[in-house]
Amino acid sequence: MGLKMRPFLAIYCLGLATSIVARNVITHLPTHPDHPDFGVASELQPHSLLGQLVKRDEGQRCGPGVGSCSSGNCCSAVGYCGKTGSHCDASVCQAAYGHCEAAGTPQGPPTDKIDRPTLGNLPYAPRSIRSCNVPGTIALTFDDGPNMYTSDLLDLLDKYNANVTFFITGSPGAKAHNIGKLDSEPSASILRRMLTSGHQIASHTWSHQDLSKISPEDRKTQLLSNEVVLRNVLGGWPTYMRPPYSSCTSESGCADDMGNLGYHIILYDIDTEDFRNDDPATIQKSKDIFDSNLDRGKASERSWLVIAHDVHEQTSHNLTEHMLKKLAADGYRAVTVGDCLGDPQENWYRMDDRVTGFPISKLLSSKSSMAASRDGKCANPTVTCTGSNFGPCCGSNKMCGSSDAHCGVGCNLRQGQCRLPNNGPLYSAPKAKLGLKNMPTSPKSESTTLSAVSFTAALVFLAGAALTR
Ligand SMILES: *[C@@H]1O[C@H](CO)[C@@H](O)[C@H](O)[C@H]1NC(C)=O
Ligand SMILES: *[C@@H]1O[C@H](CO)[C@@H](O)[C@H](O)[C@H]1NC(C)=O
Repeated sequence: MGLKMRPFLAIYCLGLATSIVARNVITHLPTHPDHPDFGVASELQPHSLLGQLVKRDEGQRCGPGVGSCSSGNCCSAVGYCGKTGSHCDASVCQAAYGHCEAAGTPQGPPTDKIDRPTLGNLPYAPRSIRSCNVPGTIALTFDDGPNMYTSDLLDLLDKYNANVTFFITGSPGAKAHNIGKLDSEPSASILRRMLTSGHQIASHTWSHQDLSKISPEDRKTQLLSNEVVLRNVLGGWPTYMRPPYSSCTSESGCADDMGNLGYHIILYDIDTEDFRNDDPATIQKSKDIFDSNLDRGKASERSWLVIAHDVHEQTSHNLTEHMLKKLAADGYRAVTVGDCLGDPQENWYRMDDRVTGFPISKLLSSKSSMAASRDGKCANPTVTCTGSNFGPCCGSNKMCGSSDAHCGVGCNLRQGQCRLPNNGPLYSAPKAKLGLKNMPTSPKSESTTLSAVSFTAALVFLAGAALTR
């Protein structure tokens, strides 16, 4: 295992440097190998690694501008041909320049043509989210699964009445303990159980590659393939994702690509480092990290976004119960990431309307649709001004009305009607035509100018769409 890890560590050090530059996008450094195969990263010294790497891989170079590997060789993430796990594992190898183990592609119709409206008030990529904002909540998150420990974890969560979020890696080749295809049993039942038990399902990409280091095409495939396999089981796919190794820089184009695909990038503010401590003798370190963070504040004022990995035995069988007890004792509730951010459940997934009767559509159709505002306010994203007594438009001040201030620049098309430019007619968003980036629901902190520009662009687009019908 020690030998297998080294190429990864070198990339990981380079990744650190890149992401210091990319501070605006992901201020959290990727101190997180976030993959079971690379569990003891901290024990090795970065400066010696590059030397060892060159000595170790005697094969030819490969990669962008160099070329592909021949005769079944895989191109490692650092650009060497070979046949070992560190060349060929789906999570590290460069599929465009040689063979890769079990990355493959899922069966079923692609999702790439389906509209991806930005819904709700939560920032979408390129911005990333590292913290919860509802006091008294803790979002425990579990990456890389499901695997053989996940069912036990679900039993435990039921016992404690806790909701959590699972960041799912779809490719069977990228799992620590392979339990087969995600859309076959037993994985499919585990996924359905997650959803019906009140947990949130999010994407951790198809095969756990470093999204900052692969081509834009491969990056897109990493998300779209995971959408297909999750859709095969659930009828839709998540709008929340976490980049493997927390790596998704703006320089590489990754952060913008995630925005174009309609994703929220979710990081964390407590790293349990459970991947380093998967041993009865050391898991106490992870418990201590969790406890000492909670001890820094009160539940009435704080909330936390915690990363762990259900694919580790000690995490599923030991650490999680400790966290559930501690958080309850301190007065916190264990909720999903969506709940700890105040984002309603209907914004967590995108439906594939070509399939019906799947778990996600049942879950969402059991919820009532948007209600007309009764008090003239439209701050709550499930409230619409359409049909209210205060006016049809939800303005940037989160109030319903019919003046330019409500219906013009900053008007929220998802929660009512808006007016077309130059005092044109009121316009409602046809659901199918909402597949736009930068809708007026963009994050509050964005500048007015930017919102105005994107709002106008959206209206012009919608006007065009209406005219060409
Ligand atoms: C967990 O989710 C279910 C279903 O959405 C919900 O009814 C329940 O209140 C949630 N529990 C907590 C602690 O938020
Ligand atoms: C759980 O963790 C504790 C340390 O916090 C350890 O002493 C104990 O052996 C672990 N239990 C199991 C079943 O591994």
